[in-house]
Amino acid sequence: MKIGCPKEIKPQEFRVGMTPNAAHEAISHGHEVLIETQAGAGSGFDDAAYASTGATIVDTATEVFASADMIVKVKEPQAGERKMLREGQLLFTYLHLAPDPVQTRDLLASGCTAIAYETVTDAAGGLPLLAPMSEVAGKLAPQVGAWTLQKANGGRGVLMGGVPGVGPAQVVVIGGGVVGTHAARVAAGMGAHVTVLDRSLPRMRYLDDVFGGVFRTSFASAGNTAELVALADLVVGAVLVPGAAAPKLVTRAQLSTMKPGAAIVDVAIDQGGCFETSHATTHQDPIYDVDGIMHYCVANMPGAVARTSTIALGNATMPFLLALADKGWKQACLDDPHLMAGLNVHAGELTYYAVGKALGIDVVSPNIMVKS
Ligand SMILES: NC(=O)c1ccc[n+]([C@@H]2O[C@H](COP(=O)([O-])OP(=O)(O)OC[C@H]3O[C@@H](n4cnc5c(N)ncnc54)[C@H](O)[C@@H]3O)[C@@H](O)[C@H]2O)c1
Repeated sequence: MKIGCPKEIKPQEFRVGMTPNAAHEAISHGHEVLIETQAGAGSGFDDAAYASTGATIVDTATEVFASADMIVKVKEPQAGERKMLREGQLLFTYLHLAPDPVQTRDLLASGCTAIAYETVTDAAGGLPLLAPMSEVAGKLAPQVGAWTLQKANGGRGVLMGGVPGVGPAQVVVIGGGVVGTHAARVAAGMGAHVTVLDRSLPRMRYLDDVFGGVFRTSFASAGNTAELVALADLVVGAVLVPGAAAPKLVTRAQLSTMKPGAAIVDVAIDQGGCFETSHATTHQDPIYDVDGIMHYCVANMPGAVARTSTIALGNATMPFLLALADKGWKQACLDDPHLMAGLNVHAGELTYYAVGKALGIDVVSPNIMVKS
């Protein structure tokens, strides 16, 4: 198969769909790889790194789209890219179609087959191609929270780990999933006193079994949440209710109960945020003040560490990418129901029920499509 990887063109996107390692693996499986020049530059991979694997470097995205059988990207194709997709071409990338009727219409019109990273599943009921970005955002949260707490940034002037004779920061993480667990581990590693709030008892049992000596858990009732938030120097928002906007768990009125200069890092901002006062910010202008509480609400946190994020995403996508290239998408999906769960669009038909429901478009079962 001819696999093409264009340079990402969405503003502030520095990741790339294929690392040189991924190119090397695909080529060793007998495939041909086309990389747009400078595609990996934002993640620290120059053209020479790809060329040394045997990949062909081309000058424009047009050349990549024109000749590749499969396009591998990070972000959803932008309007200009969607015009270049064609019938029979395979697209493997994040799509997030449910809130995006324009993109959905264009993908349907193109006749391409689109497999969305975010809906590929795993045997444990997880989302293996979303998890790496949650791991990155979770580990970043205490890092940016510690920075926000610094006096020059409007924070309380509290050091995460304290020093001998001065106690550590109090950190509260709301939501103990992938983001929350990674945030709690790093905050505890920095020496902070950490409590994780969740509503899932099985999840808290797991956290207590594995991390009992590292951080504490507490049931996320409204009362417990209010009490712990009032005592916190740093609160990390990390809840997810699948398929729904994040619930607002901390109101504006509650900010007045918090310590002046305390910090909020609302990682769940990409689902609307779990603080009433959250609104999305950018890496250029990441923090703002509401009632003396500093908010950090960057919607694409992994972009801050594009190289780590690219490599982590590449590790997760590689087995699926190789299966698609080796077997063709139909056989690969027939062999792996978790990959089949990623099929969102094929030959002008929508094949993912939640997207169809959100957009009011009829859906054809992916099972029928792979056998057609
Ligand atoms: N801002 C970014 O750059 C970025 C990057 C990655 C992920 N995210 C977002 O971070 C959020 C968390 O992602 P995740 O991968 O950790 O999800 P996850 O499903 O692994 O974990 C979510 C956790 O929230 C808990 N939860 C649900 N409702 C709750 C409530 N009312 N109170 C307390 N806990 C509750 C669940 O029990 C679960 O343990 C998502 O919104 C995700 O989209 C943002």
